[in-house]
This record gives sequence, C-alpha cells and structure tokens, in this order.
Amino acid sequence: MKAAVISGIGAWLPPDLVTNDDLAARMNTSDEWIRTRTGIRTRHFVSAGMPTSRLAAEAGARAMESAGTADVDAVVLATTTPDRPCPASAPEVARRLGLTGRPAFDVSAVCTGFLYALTTAAGMIASGAAEQVLVIGAEAFSTLIDPRDRSCAVVFGDGAGAVVLRAGEPGDPGALGRIVLGSDGSLADLITVRAGGSERPHPDADPERTDAADRYFSMRGREVFEHAVARMSESARAALAHTGWQPGDVDRLVGHQANLRILRAVAEQLDIPADRLVIHLNRVGNTAAASIPLALAHAHATGDLAPGARVVLAAFGGGATWGATALTWPSLKSV
Ligand code: UT7
Repeated sequence: MKAAVISGIGAWLPPDLVTNDDLAARMNTSDEWIRTRTGIRTRHFVSAGMPTSRLAAEAGARAMESAGTADVDAVVLATTTPDRPCPASAPEVARRLGLTGRPAFDVSAVCTGFLYALTTAAGMIASGAAEQVLVIGAEAFSTLIDPRDRSCAVVFGDGAGAVVLRAGEPGDPGALGRIVLGSDGSLADLITVRAGGSERPHPDADPERTDAADRYFSMRGREVFEHAVARMSESARAALAHTGWQPGDVDRLVGHQANLRILRAVAEQLDIPADRLVIHLNRVGNTAAASIPLALAHAHATGDLAPGARVVLAAFGGGATWGATALTWPSLKSV
C-alpha cells in the first residue's frame, strides 16, 4: 500500500495586517489582554469580497511550485468558510489553478479540518485513486465573526496553507504516519454558527424565529480550552504510539494555533519541552483549518523545521473534532 508523502508546501496571507491596537481602537479590548490571554499580536483579514477560494488558490499554487508540479489528481479543501453555503469551494479553487476537470471537494471539520483532509487524500493515494493530491486549509474567518463579540473577534484570522501529497513508501521522509481522528457531536454547541443550515433558518429568512446574532460564529472559550488540551494531548500520544517514538524523540510539536496557553499545556501534558513548540499564532491568530499548514510553511521557510526533524501535528476544533499524526520532515523546495 502506498504511503502519502509531503512533496511541496505553500502558504498565503491576505495583505491587510491588523494589530491588537487596531482592534482596541474598534472594541473594548487591549493589546495587553490579547497578548497575555492568547499570545496573539497580529492577524490578517481578507478585504471585502475576497473569497476563501482566492486564498486557497494562492497557497495551492505555491505548494505545487514547491513540489515542482503543474498538475495533481485531486484537490481537497478544508474550510469552515466556503465561498458560498453551496456548492463546495474546491472546484472553484481547481479552476483558479488550471485544474478544471480534476476531482475537487471540501472537507468540513473546523480547526481539525486539515488533518481530516490529509486523511482523505492519503486514502485516495493508498487506494490507487490518485498519485498526487493538493490538500489545502483555507479560511476567511473574519467574515463569520460578530464584531460585537470581543472574545472571538480578537482571536481569529484569515489565511491559507497547502501541501502536495505524492504516492511513496512508508519509510520516505515526509510520509504521513497513522492519522488518529475523533469526534463528539454532543459538543456541537461549544463552537458553532447556529443559523443558516437545515436546522435553523438564516435570520434574514425568518427574523421571527432566529436571532440576528445566530448568523455569526460563537464559541464557549473556557470549555473549548479544556477539551482542546485533553484531546490534543490524547491524540498526539496515540499518534506517537503508532510511530514508536517517545515524547523525548519529538523535535517539533505543531499544534493547532488557537492559544499559546493551550499549546504550552499540551506540551506539558506530553512531557515535550516548550521550546520544541512551533509558534505561529503570534503573527496570524487562530486561522482554523489553515492553522497547521500555515504554521508548517512558516517554520519551513524560517528554518525552524529542518529536514529530518521528527514532527507531531495535533488539532482540536468544532464538531467537536480532534486528531494527530507524526512524520519526519522532508527536504522541500522553498518558494
Ligand atoms: O479554534 C478552535 C479551538 N478554539 C480554542 O481552542 C479556543 C480556546 N479558548 C481560548 O483560547 C480562550 O478561552 C479565549 C482566548 C477565547 C478567551 O480567554 P479566557 O482566558 O478563557 O477568557 P474568558 O472568556 O474566560 O474571559 C475572561 C474575562 C471575562 O471578563 P470577566 O467576566 O472575568 O470580568 C471576559 O469578559 O476576559 C474578558 N474578555 C476580554 N477582555 C478584554 C473576553 N474577551 C476579552 C477581550 N478583551 N478581547
């Protein structure tokens, strides 16, 4: 059975940079609160009308250039913020990349979305359905945020990261180990957009029955915090058990970039020194499904992630969903 091997990586951030002080000028918050409670200093926001498919295509083009390929057999897009509720955005991403005709679909698992998308793509490779798959995590999360909800408004940011997976051997550098995934639908209310689906109409469609705030993203932050630490630690431990690595063998822990305090707590639970954490949220905030590939691309570009490094990826997100995997970082072309 073929393994899925990372052969290229790319990222793209929309140009509009928003500092904590910019947010403090718009709402009742402060640079000090945001830095100390989350570790975030800046984030990028899309400009009006810039769709997720644009971010995804920019990152995807860079990943394909890094992989030295102009073609792939499929495009898998992890996103919580598709261009429209219907259809999926991946076909539009494929069109923007000159890949019209290739299979293209979205995967929805909020902040764990990239790990779910990797699993899907790895399955296509293992079954022989594809030789190369472009996997993208892309979000325009700022479009979902209630500007009056300061606890969410300061946390989330927009951007996209992508990898190309190729068919290879399990021992190849860059080969994905077993991807451990989980979910718990009883926690759906912790991270949610209540209206606009089949359960509850969009507020514009039925103002009598739906609160205007229900169109926006909402999160019960403190509860999410606790679940995130527990589930990311537990799944990282399971992924390590599959590779046979001990915590001390891990060179870099790339957790979903939600909150610096969460990342430190996960490292502590796993007995991995905090200086092995890849930290990217200080620059981009929580970019949901884009967070892990953006952190990987940044760490690769800056040399923080060197070829041969033993890396663990772990995430927790809406659903609730969670997951982790481990791999040895390959030598990739920087673009
Ligand atoms: O991405 C998917 C997974 N998501 C996560 O993992 C996120 C997990 N949760 C978190 O990262 C944190 O819970 C938040 C950053 C969202 C919030 O931090 P917290 O330390 O849990 O704060 P809190 O919500 O418990 O609020 C503490 C206080 C409250 O005031 P009182 O009630 O103690 O007087 C809030 O009203 O901080 C207040 N507060 C703020 N103050 C200034 C909340 N947001 C802000 C703000 N600026 N932006």
